[in-house]
Amino acid sequence: MAFPPLKNDLLLRAARGEETERAPVWVMRQAGRYLPEFQAVRAHHSFFEICRTPALAKELTLQPIRRYSGLIDAAIIFSDILVVPQALGMEVQMNPGPFFPDPLVTPADIEKLTKDVDVDKELGYVYEAITQTRQALNGEVPLIGFCGAPWTLFSYMIEGGGTKTFQKCKTWLFKYPEESKALLNRIADVCIEFLVGQVKAGAQLLQVFDSWAGELAPHHFQEFSLPSLQRISSGVRSKLAAQNVPAVPMTLFPKGANSQLAALAQHAGYDVIGIDWCVEPSEARAAVGDKVALQGNMDPNVLYGGRDAIEREVKRMCESFKGGKAAKAWIANLGHGITPGVNPDDLHWFFQCVHKYSASAPSA
Ligand code: CP3
Repeated sequence: MAFPPLKNDLLLRAARGEETERAPVWVMRQAGRYLPEFQAVRAHHSFFEICRTPALAKELTLQPIRRYSGLIDAAIIFSDILVVPQALGMEVQMNPGPFFPDPLVTPADIEKLTKDVDVDKELGYVYEAITQTRQALNGEVPLIGFCGAPWTLFSYMIEGGGTKTFQKCKTWLFKYPEESKALLNRIADVCIEFLVGQVKAGAQLLQVFDSWAGELAPHHFQEFSLPSLQRISSGVRSKLAAQNVPAVPMTLFPKGANSQLAALAQHAGYDVIGIDWCVEPSEARAAVGDKVALQGNMDPNVLYGGRDAIEREVKRMCESFKGGKAAKAWIANLGHGITPGVNPDDLHWFFQCVHKYSASAPSA
């Protein structure tokens, strides 16, 4: 497929490990409820209807790119991590948070999942949205494709929605470890097909969201989450190579798994690791060494703190990422998704501050 030439490759250069003249910047959940133009579209369409309608998904993906033109360095396709459980045959509602009317209760329920999912058929609407969006972006910024990590999706499929305790899904890990691993691999295999399809449709970087990685004890993360994350990175790379499709950089966002950064950099097989605000950037860099680029990590709540706080925190973040001994590639972002109450003008200020402070040399 021929697409317009890319005019801003800062994100891709940083993801490949190069130092850049300033940090590329985007924010997780950048197409979201804090934008009045999002609310205007959302008022007329349900969440999953938007996901399934390529023209609407394209429109919402482009909203932050238009509003922050010249300040923002990536688009991320408007979709959700829960389209993978849907492809596996589960019903998912959004009311207002995710709700599964028929979650997996015991391993016997795995039988209810669709066998041999035809991923390209089930999720072809995402590919179509990606292709349309990439054309419409006209090379302004690269387009990110994504999926949820198997552990995070496993938790939703068993809990039936969000959870504070992770009691049900952790019970599975203790009571049914082998069935849990088999299910995690099965989810991973759908993710692999899905990510490969997104690249073929035009995605220029892939991000895997392990939003609940930090809920696991370190040894449990290594036993249950890490193998499926490795399966995805190696599976995507080998399938792309087998189909003669050029590789794209891959980002892992293992939220909260800050004790695992060194192991992830060495063994997970990703080019970029996203970090949250509970780890100091210079310490994260020391843990991962030179092997990967880093992405993150401002607390999204700083965006409620007013302009002085935003400027102060961005400056500090830039110094910590760039000032470490092994200063290397860095993609500026929040440490988790932007939340609905943020004033879009304050996000504008965040972007301006990143441009200003990530370009300057670390202060003496
Ligand atoms: O980043 C982007 O702008 C691209 C779109 C995107 C959405 N969800 C849109 C969305 C992405 C990348 C996601 C990922 C996602 N979805 C994650 C991983 C990232 C993270 O925040 O940890 C998770 C855990 C989900 C599951 C999910 N989807 C939840 C928990 C919720 C409800 C609560 C919330 O934060 O909004 C959603 C709904 C959702 N996904 C909305 C959007 C814009 C809001 C839905 C609405 O309009 O009512």
